[in-house]
Amino acid sequence: PGLQRAVDAHLEKYLSQKTRSTDGSRDSLSPATVTNGSCVINEGSCEQREPAQQDKAALDKALWRRSMQLHREQQAWQKSSEGQKMLESRRSLPTNKEKDAILNAISKNQVVIISGETGCGKTTQIPQFILESEVNSLRGATCNIICTQPRRISAMSVSERIATERGEKLGETVGYKVRLEGIKGKKTRLVFYTTGVLLRRLLVDRNLKGVTHVIMDEIHERGIDEDFLLTVLKEILPHRPELRLVLMSATLNAELFSSYFGGAPVIQIPGVTHPVRTYFLENILESTGYKLTEDNQIDDYGKAWKSNKQALNKRKSKIASAVEEALGSADFSEYSQQTQDSMVCWKPDCFNFNLIEYILCNICENEKPGGILVFMTGWDDISSLKEKLQAHSVLGDESRVLLLTCHSSMASSEQRLIFEKPDSGVRKIVLATNIAETSITIDDLVFVIDCGKAKEASYDALNNTPCLLPSWISKVSAKQRRGRAGRVQPGECYHLYPKCVYDAFAEYQLPQILRTPLQSLCLQIKSLNLGSTSGFLSKALQSPDLRAVQNAIEYLKIIGALDENENLTALGGYLTMLPMEPKLGKMLVMGTLLNCLDPILTVVAGLSIRDPFLTPLEKKELAEAAKAQYSHDFSDHLALVRAYKGWKVAEQKRKGYEYCWKNFLSAQSMKAIDSLRREFKSVLRDIHLVDNKMTNYNTYSCDDHVVRAVICYGLYPNVCSIAHKETSLSLKTMEDGEVSLHSNTVNARVAKIPYPWLVFNEKIKVNSVYLRDSTAVSDSMLLLFGRSISSGDVDGHLKMLEGYLEFFMAPEVALMYQTLKQELDELFQSKLINPRVSLHGHRY
Ligand code: CDP
Ligand code: MG
Repeated sequence: PGLQRAVDAHLEKYLSQKTRSTDGSRDSLSPATVTNGSCVINEGSCEQREPAQQDKAALDKALWRRSMQLHREQQAWQKSSEGQKMLESRRSLPTNKEKDAILNAISKNQVVIISGETGCGKTTQIPQFILESEVNSLRGATCNIICTQPRRISAMSVSERIATERGEKLGETVGYKVRLEGIKGKKTRLVFYTTGVLLRRLLVDRNLKGVTHVIMDEIHERGIDEDFLLTVLKEILPHRPELRLVLMSATLNAELFSSYFGGAPVIQIPGVTHPVRTYFLENILESTGYKLTEDNQIDDYGKAWKSNKQALNKRKSKIASAVEEALGSADFSEYSQQTQDSMVCWKPDCFNFNLIEYILCNICENEKPGGILVFMTGWDDISSLKEKLQAHSVLGDESRVLLLTCHSSMASSEQRLIFEKPDSGVRKIVLATNIAETSITIDDLVFVIDCGKAKEASYDALNNTPCLLPSWISKVSAKQRRGRAGRVQPGECYHLYPKCVYDAFAEYQLPQILRTPLQSLCLQIKSLNLGSTSGFLSKALQSPDLRAVQNAIEYLKIIGALDENENLTALGGYLTMLPMEPKLGKMLVMGTLLNCLDPILTVVAGLSIRDPFLTPLEKKELAEAAKAQYSHDFSDHLALVRAYKGWKVAEQKRKGYEYCWKNFLSAQSMKAIDSLRREFKSVLRDIHLVDNKMTNYNTYSCDDHVVRAVICYGLYPNVCSIAHKETSLSLKTMEDGEVSLHSNTVNARVAKIPYPWLVFNEKIKVNSVYLRDSTAVSDSMLLLFGRSISSGDVDGHLKMLEGYLEFFMAPEVALMYQTLKQELDELFQSKLINPRVSLHGHRY
């Protein structure tokens, strides 16, 4: 109990410091304060300090002057020749015709829903209509418009585009704010946020004080953050009658949204910008001489192709043989199964690869100039295809092709390369996941290739197991993908599946709130004081399964983020301020308390991105041997810490790339880890968990016992027991029974592990349950760090452990508990009083 009190007191102290010294929000934009005569205008949030009576007139005047200035600046730009040209092209967009109707509806209704084809000008124009109308009516200085985007890449690229359209630099009237990054200035009136960032602002600014308009873009995506934000905004609207909410999307279930907001008006923008020719698989195949059967049945389709194989065989051109290879491995009967059960894994990836290769060759050889955007399921596919294309040099002269990739784990600066114009005569090919699906415009893009799949997180609430599998996209997604072409010029779209498969796609994707674990969401509900989680979630657009809510609450209690009465603990308070999964946030908090932040920063950064250890298929053994040199102590996490350290030393000698090459590491990931570490450090500083000089936070960084214990603290309750059979290991978790290790973990290749437990990062259910990324831990680490120390529920802890021990039949371990707990308890207390007390020599 003393230990728990000590840790709680420690966290409380920091929490109170934080609330005193800042407004508590990393994400809220620090408002620029402009002194103007005798009054102060807080431009960032448009809040005005309560002025003294005599200052009122001066304030009004200052605001008016500022509004006038904004108005004049924009007028001047629009009169310039470049401005005229821009205005002209903006006016040609379909949204322009509806401008008055839109503004009128917004002025008369608190909530307005707008839908229109992709490319009609919703994202770039509607926020500007609102801004311009405010500026023209001289409310420019007091308006504050926030537009949310589901992804960073769109928030950044759209704000940049709008600044260009207004003849400004980013950060003047228009800015953006995404996780850990943002550009905004004193004059900024329109800010693009990612949804998550706006949610975090709500933590400290419950009523969005000073915000005049919230526009939510791409609302059809129905991510968990978007659904949550909608529910919260619905609660806020009655308290903020002047606040306006605009919901936009190309394709949305307008009725659902409209009735959720009490019959809000829906404005439909007619008209498209440029035509996009669409090809389905049968059309693509026709170009090789193949004809589809008339009744278009899938089975017949497959059979028809097979009977045509001979005909194809005769045309031994380069292209025909590529198609033959592609089709040879495809089993069309799978299509029909797939559409009925989207959870089934889709096998014929090589079919897709060959087909994509064929289409790319065809475009490069025969089609007009223009960029190509290929939608694939994930990083693995993207990198394999990239390797394949490069290895075969199938696209002709390498200097005439610019092959780029775009994936969520890449740094923003790298993602942004996809917008750059290539030299003339060079064809840009972008291999992307669905992060390039909405909102973005790549100016020189003409062709889109859509594989029809996306990795979709799903969640089995019954077994409390998350899964991440490629599954068919929805009609809405297919439309968005197609819509990336035809925005600036006519385009073409190749769907790599037959039309009949497309027809069987679901209209909309299942909202994320119904298919993912709800831990972070529940934590946010608690931190916003929104009452009971299930009560609040019952008010959502579509409510999640009650069992999923209970699982999440249970998890948050186990990890010590909520107490027995479901109130936020001090630890929970910290976790809501850390922009990462609770388990990773926990590691950072404990890493600072136990003074081993340096390795823990690497672990947390590493777990936030894709696996930095590469295993190319053809060099699997060499790659495994390379990883093994870092992992002599049964931990993937410690292996990463060593690999990063080695890379860092090499990088300082400008040999980072060679180091990665030699050791089968991804240089890109190492750089990403490096920059994430810096970002996380600055977050920890912002919330006052570490001080500026970072003194003392790394005293025990070299003590693997301490680091291992912190990893255990973060990953608990992801625990599995190890029993040794003759030549193999037998692994069990409490919920799943017998489990296997994913081949990515170093522990999958050892016959003996001198520890009784493994903590693991995640489990994935494919056929059986697989554990990814694991670290072996001792009894005492599990006993002392398993249950959150700050949960305060020591009895509960014991009970839970007894459950574990009974289950795994090792009751003698419990005896160690009391003594060790007491020992650590004393250590902690003395450490909090005197941080220099050594933890060395104590074996956990
Ligand atoms: O949001 P929505 O799909 O309706 O369209 P938007 O993103 O507002 O873009 C409207 C149009 O602006 C595009 O179709 C392009 O013609 C043009 N645009 C552009 O030329 N360059 C950009 N970077 C962004 C938009
Ligand atoms: Mg858009």
